Amino acid sequence: MRIFLDTADIDEIREVARWGILSGVTTNPTLMSKTSGKSHEAVIEEIASIVDGPISAETVSLEADGMLEEGRRFAKWHPNVVVKVPSTPAGWEAVSRFKKEGIRCNVTLCFSANQALFAALAGAYIISPFVGRLDDISEDGMQVVRDTVEIYRQHKLETLVLAASIRHPLHIIDAAKAGADIATVPFKVLEAAAKHPLTDKGLDLFLKDWQKFQASLKEAVPA
Ligand code: E4P
Repeated sequence: MRIFLDTADIDEIREVARWGILSGVTTNPTLMSKTSGKSHEAVIEEIASIVDGPISAETVSLEADGMLEEGRRFAKWHPNVVVKVPSTPAGWEAVSRFKKEGIRCNVTLCFSANQALFAALAGAYIISPFVGRLDDISEDGMQVVRDTVEIYRQHKLETLVLAASIRHPLHIIDAAKAGADIATVPFKVLEAAAKHPLTDKGLDLFLKDWQKFQASLKEAVPA
């Protein structure tokens, strides 16, 4: 399973890119609203200059024609741009039209396996089931990921399953076990998943013991 960052924050992207585990980035209007002073185009181009992988840029039109107009513009910014459209009939229409133009789509705001099936039939490159937002309303968000993976395998559909709306480190493990191709993870969750108290404790002990060893060498009287 590949890891994408779910952010438009350039510092976060630079940091995780250094870890050597980052394969792409997803953005959305909410994440873009947290950036300041730069245009949508400038932010996406800067991300693309850091990460060599799919960068999702989201449309805001509700009609297919508007999504097409926005997405064609986004696709000119960088070859790695993937156009995000919603899980609606207009979104699937846009996906099928984008496909004929060779523009890849990430179908977002997916909350059911039926929506995931329709996105794949329309020709989506990526489907994004939202795990956390379903958990928030007492539904099992990861079950949509499991069902989607099963349906795509059963029917040999090539759309990539991207587990989105990831809220905690266990979601990453569960998405990987469910067979998701990608998990898009907020920086804070990735940071929490990267840490383990026993790693920090072990490092501390090794460093102290190494210092003791060095000190003992200095104190040793030559024979
Ligand atoms: C990803 O593409 C989505 O925009 C994102 O994961 C949504 O996450 P949220 O539910 O935490 O806003």
